[in-house]
Amino acid sequence: MQYQFLESDELFTRVKTITDFAKQTTAATQKQTKKTEKLIGEIEKPINVPPLPAGFKVDIPQFDVTKRLNKLPRSWDLPQQLYKKHLPKYNVGTIYRIQELLNVGEGYIGQTVTVAGWARTVRDQKNLCFIELNDGTSFGGLQIVVEDKLPNFDQVVKANTGFSLKVTGNIVKSPAKGQLIEMLVADPTKHEVVIVGQADPQEYPMAKGVQKPETLRQKAHLRPRGNFFSAVTRIRNNLAYATHVFFQNNGCLYIHTPIITGSDCEGAGEMFRISTIFDNDIKKIPQINGKVDTAQDFFKKEVNLTVSGQLQVEHFCISMSNVYTFGPTFRAEKAHTHRHLAEFWMIEPEFAFADLFDNMEAAEGYVKFCINYIIQNNMDDLKFLDNRVKPGLIDYLKDIVSKDFIRCSYTQGIDILLKAQKAGAKFENSDIKWGMDLNSEHERFIAEKVFQRPVFLYDYPKEIKAFYMKVTDDGKCVRAMDMLIPQVGELIGGSQREERYDVLAQRIKECGLKIEDYGPYMDLRKYGTVPHCGFGLGFERLVMMVTGVENIRDVIPFPRYHGSAEF
Ligand code: 4AD
Ligand code: MG
Repeated sequence: MQYQFLESDELFTRVKTITDFAKQTTAATQKQTKKTEKLIGEIEKPINVPPLPAGFKVDIPQFDVTKRLNKLPRSWDLPQQLYKKHLPKYNVGTIYRIQELLNVGEGYIGQTVTVAGWARTVRDQKNLCFIELNDGTSFGGLQIVVEDKLPNFDQVVKANTGFSLKVTGNIVKSPAKGQLIEMLVADPTKHEVVIVGQADPQEYPMAKGVQKPETLRQKAHLRPRGNFFSAVTRIRNNLAYATHVFFQNNGCLYIHTPIITGSDCEGAGEMFRISTIFDNDIKKIPQINGKVDTAQDFFKKEVNLTVSGQLQVEHFCISMSNVYTFGPTFRAEKAHTHRHLAEFWMIEPEFAFADLFDNMEAAEGYVKFCINYIIQNNMDDLKFLDNRVKPGLIDYLKDIVSKDFIRCSYTQGIDILLKAQKAGAKFENSDIKWGMDLNSEHERFIAEKVFQRPVFLYDYPKEIKAFYMKVTDDGKCVRAMDMLIPQVGELIGGSQREERYDVLAQRIKECGLKIEDYGPYMDLRKYGTVPHCGFGLGFERLVMMVTGVENIRDVIPFPRYHGSAEF
């Protein structure tokens, strides 16, 4: 489904103008410019991944297990009973969930029950009225047949798509194809249809049939009334739940890290400033020497919205062993790609006494658990998405969980790209050399074409990674890892952390950051330091992978991106 690159050229021009302006400003902004320019390259344009050159083959890279910190790998598998979610019978009171009725099916035949939800369709046929009612609990709705014996039958037949209804009726075997049961509303003494709320069919946007995701984005508050976004929402919810099931049952503590912070974890200067002293009247802003006087601001210093909870979650790791945080994250990237948001959610676990390979095992276990969880609990939603959004989605997901993920060093990755280029692969950015930051086309070529499964690329040149990553023995690389997924690209970024005080201090300096801003973080290296590692998974990218949706704006309830914060 091609729907992600429909924004106008105007956006491109706007970002371009801002970038040109930024070029003339300070060092920190220049860093951002560099990154923004890279993103501009991807604006509004599908990523072209070159095919594998004929006969091109590489061996699966091996790594030296004797160099691991912990000699035995840890199994992150969970007992089977944790793969299936317990679901309640009722929404509230005695209102049955439609999901429960459809799941149990024939077991309810003969019972009188009450359901409530929103009409998807209403058709009248002679003395009968057919309503398809959906309460959001399941993909499928309940077919309701109302007989004209009901006292308010005349009003019921006038109901339309979007009406909210509360209906009591008898569950019967359905004569229709594709459904086991339906509800018959035929006994005026026991049954009823209550019209709870109306929706004018001339005005109700969801009454207009199937609409494109980008049209629906303009009506984000009504999106979950449709099949597409309600399927995405149910899967998103279960992925969040599966995340907690996975980490909680693997002994990790959930730490609530702050949203407001004075430190820039990723050191890229792409933060949203928080302030209570800004005023539309510039003269009212406290100033000192021509600059904003931050000492007079709410926190008496400059603070921002967090770009990552990692630094704070590390504080808890170095005393409570295994922890994770899962919260909103903010990045002021002026990106208009189909995989960047200004506000997204990130899951960041952190493990003590562990190295990069322990990190990879946890990440692989976590992603596989999430996929298996959705296969177990959301099959109807997946079938719809496989049908309408991404053909082959279910096979794609089953393929991912059935294979071991590849571990391939950055250096081996560059070798592979160079060999492929020599054999005829055409990359848009053909200037491939050691030290470069890989583009999506390169990352996806390795995962999608060469290995045809998820790949951990690790040990990156230190110049292209953040300050906190552990420097390798040769001093050239850091123990970073990115998990690259076929058809998606980067899903996870993580690393073993630099636990040596002096090396970390040196890296902070090299990266142009101020050591004073990282005092508590440095303390962890002063008192009882330990090797530790962790990663960050972009939650919306996980939802994109599992739903097959190509635009990140269609997997989050209210997307925020450069130039847009509606609703
Ligand atoms: O690779 P990143 O920048 O890593 C970190 O933030 C580390 N502090 C994580 C850690 O080690 N604890 O971001 C992690 C992931 C990316 O792989 C990507 O999936 C997602 O976060 N991500 C975004 N998702 C949506 N919109 C954006 N603007 C994103 N930036 C990163
Ligand atoms: Mg990254």
